[in-house]
Amino acid sequence: MHKFTKAVAVIGLSLIMSHSAMAETMKLGFLVKQPEEPWFQTEWAFADKAGKDLGFDVIKIAVPDGEKTLNAIDSLAASGAKGFVICTPDPKLGSAIMAKANSYGLKVITVDDQFVTAKGKPMENVPLVMMAASKIGERQGNELWKEMNNRKWNVAETAVMAITSNELDTARRRTNGSMDALKAAGFPEKQIYQVPSKSNDIPGSFDAANSMLVQHPEVKNWLIVGFNDNTILGGVRATEGQGFKPENVIGIGINGVDAVNELSKSKATGFYGSLLPSPDIHGYKSIEMLYNWETKGVEPEKFTEVTDVVLITRDNFKAELEKKGLN
Ligand code: GLA
Repeated sequence: MHKFTKAVAVIGLSLIMSHSAMAETMKLGFLVKQPEEPWFQTEWAFADKAGKDLGFDVIKIAVPDGEKTLNAIDSLAASGAKGFVICTPDPKLGSAIMAKANSYGLKVITVDDQFVTAKGKPMENVPLVMMAASKIGERQGNELWKEMNNRKWNVAETAVMAITSNELDTARRRTNGSMDALKAAGFPEKQIYQVPSKSNDIPGSFDAANSMLVQHPEVKNWLIVGFNDNTILGGVRATEGQGFKPENVIGIGINGVDAVNELSKSKATGFYGSLLPSPDIHGYKSIEMLYNWETKGVEPEKFTEVTDVVLITRDNFKAELEKKGLN
């Protein structure tokens, strides 16, 4: 064969091969409500790791609202994806998400936040990977109690500010768990004040905390309860704005990875620490389950609870994050 023809043939063959290799790489989606939270970035990173290990591509899409969520499902289907993992921006979108996914034959696994029906009933038939919400909340309450005693605060001059997001079930269970643990430890119930946050971010909890602080000028020391790091960060920022010193405030967040900047500050703040669960496992395991479901027909468990959690503070956060490969 002529040299040139041969070269073209080789190129042609390799094109065909790479094309068929491409066609074989499975695509799976990973949709998250708040990509600005390191929590979700960590889930994405570990979903990618699963994709590398097992040989599939992860299509990562931010879905901050209902419209973006439904559009994302359309574009996943158009790109030939077989299914997706999702942390929905609103649990009540569950039925609409399932209807659209089913219309395309896409498999769905939920992570972090459980779907509910329009009437607020949990959609237990959709597989869910989530943290042990009540238990992690109890741990928050117990750690707040412990640190309050370390500081030898006078309970009579202390109050709990619980910033709530009760419409989100996992959030409600965490803050209730925390308040229950504080009561069980002996904290007076009448000094536990609740305030709802208008949005699940720092500005929302900052506003909620400010309104609480002006209502209780008599309180010297504050314990801050909330469902994740951003909630506690908003609360702590509000106490700072109103002149509280770090030694009179204890906030313990949940997520850990969202607290790294705060814990890295050169001076301590009222943000004492955070409970670090396993965003790595949430990200890896949820999409691995989806992959096994699609490729091997392994039906995923309806409920996978991730229980592992560690308290990180300014003293140990670097080492603890490193242990989990999260630095
Ligand atoms: C919810 C919260 C996140 C994170 C996850 C963990 O989705 O909004 O910040 O705490 O739960 O499951």
